[in-house]
Amino acid sequence: MSKLTQNLSTDATEPQGRQANTMWSSRMAFILAASGSAVGLGNIWKFPYITGENGGGAFVLVYLLCISIVGIPIMIAEVMMGRAGGKSPINSLRDLAQRNGLSTRWVGVAWLGVIASFLILSFYSVIGGWAISYVGHAASGSFAGADADAIGAMFGGLLGDAGTLMIWHSIFMVTVIMIVARGLKSGMEKAINLLMPLLFFLLLVMVGYAASTSAFDQGFSFLFSVDFSKLTTAGVLTALGHAFFTLSLGMAVMIAYGSYLPKNVSIAKTAVTVSIVDTLVALLAGLAIFPLVFANGLEPGAGPGLIFQTLPLAFGKMSGGVLFGTLFFALLVVAAFTSAISLLEPVVEWLEEKKGINRFVATLIAGGTVWLLGIATVLSLNEWANFHPLAFIPAFEGKTVFDILDYVTSNLMMPLAGLLTAVLVGWFMKREMVRQELAMDSEGAFNGLMFVLKFLTPAAVMVVFIYNLI
Ligand code: PFF
Repeated sequence: MSKLTQNLSTDATEPQGRQANTMWSSRMAFILAASGSAVGLGNIWKFPYITGENGGGAFVLVYLLCISIVGIPIMIAEVMMGRAGGKSPINSLRDLAQRNGLSTRWVGVAWLGVIASFLILSFYSVIGGWAISYVGHAASGSFAGADADAIGAMFGGLLGDAGTLMIWHSIFMVTVIMIVARGLKSGMEKAINLLMPLLFFLLLVMVGYAASTSAFDQGFSFLFSVDFSKLTTAGVLTALGHAFFTLSLGMAVMIAYGSYLPKNVSIAKTAVTVSIVDTLVALLAGLAIFPLVFANGLEPGAGPGLIFQTLPLAFGKMSGGVLFGTLFFALLVVAAFTSAISLLEPVVEWLEEKKGINRFVATLIAGGTVWLLGIATVLSLNEWANFHPLAFIPAFEGKTVFDILDYVTSNLMMPLAGLLTAVLVGWFMKREMVRQELAMDSEGAFNGLMFVLKFLTPAAVMVVFIYNLI
């Protein structure tokens, strides 16, 4: 039987291509893992500050639109490719290309994602390290009564000190490696089952606290009252770019996670659930943060320092600031861990499969390399702050190694991988294979999804992509 007919005739409830012990134990386990990947620094650090910079409500509305027409369809496509391939992203794509009679060059989509996830983790870990160090600052009461200069000096001091950054980066990476090395069920699922409820709990405590401040209404209307005059073209593009980042798309992560998804789970419903969870967390993070910012007369558009500079000022001024400051940064750390775990998985899965290395060694090799790469980000913040290696290219003028990694992965690699994914599934894969794998209840919904993947998603991503290039 050819692979195609074999796939088409497989009982849809049977896990294919993998042993049952290397699958997520349930739909819920997948939802938690994929939500854990999606919910991260992007939701709690980046979403609030880009919303602040872009004026609030109108930006939020555009962001929701981007999640719907670009994010959800691409997530469905990625999980579908992973489950249909049943292997690591690179080998899944190779299989799919062959089964669809396509050029094996399509494997490039997975390579793009795998390399990008590897690079992203190298700086994600350094920022995760900042968050761990801030748990310590908050708990030891160092925000109490501090003014903007003192808080600024604290943040500047951390970034300027390569040795301290290395320690936190190392602690972060070693923890991630320990979890991933133990395997899908005994490592990742166990950690995620513990960390995700903790994350929701911490978030709700923080929102409850924000709701008790005098400026909750102000924070609420900042997020939800729409004023289009505050929206710029750059804001729209930021929203679209962020939809990718926040849903962990274009990084091969959802392909890898999809490869462990049991066959009887509905991909579309699951992807929609994960996207809703991710969006809710981002909105709740906004609701936790902006009331504190307004209650203390601070600036919502403070940029990347919103969480590390503005918020500590608020914690320093309020009663209960030590407790809630500590809980807030603990929330950030938990969110960062569950995302970092997912960023290591595509490479580990590939090393295990391609090189036949056992999981423990594969994780050590992949994680160790990421740790080494992370040193470049650590140094970019201090010793190499004036080192601009690609300054001869206009787009990279004034960019440090860290800036380049961030720019290339988020603005070029992620959208390109997303665009190619939409084109592959929308235009090139056999429609019947996609239909079988998705097994959607309604034909109309399936046709709608395929239409969006064929036309809307590629068009939207192309616009961002071209804009970023020029
Ligand atoms: N989605 C994560 C966040 O919002 O922080 C970041 C991320 C994780 C991006 C995994 C990409 C990825 F593959």
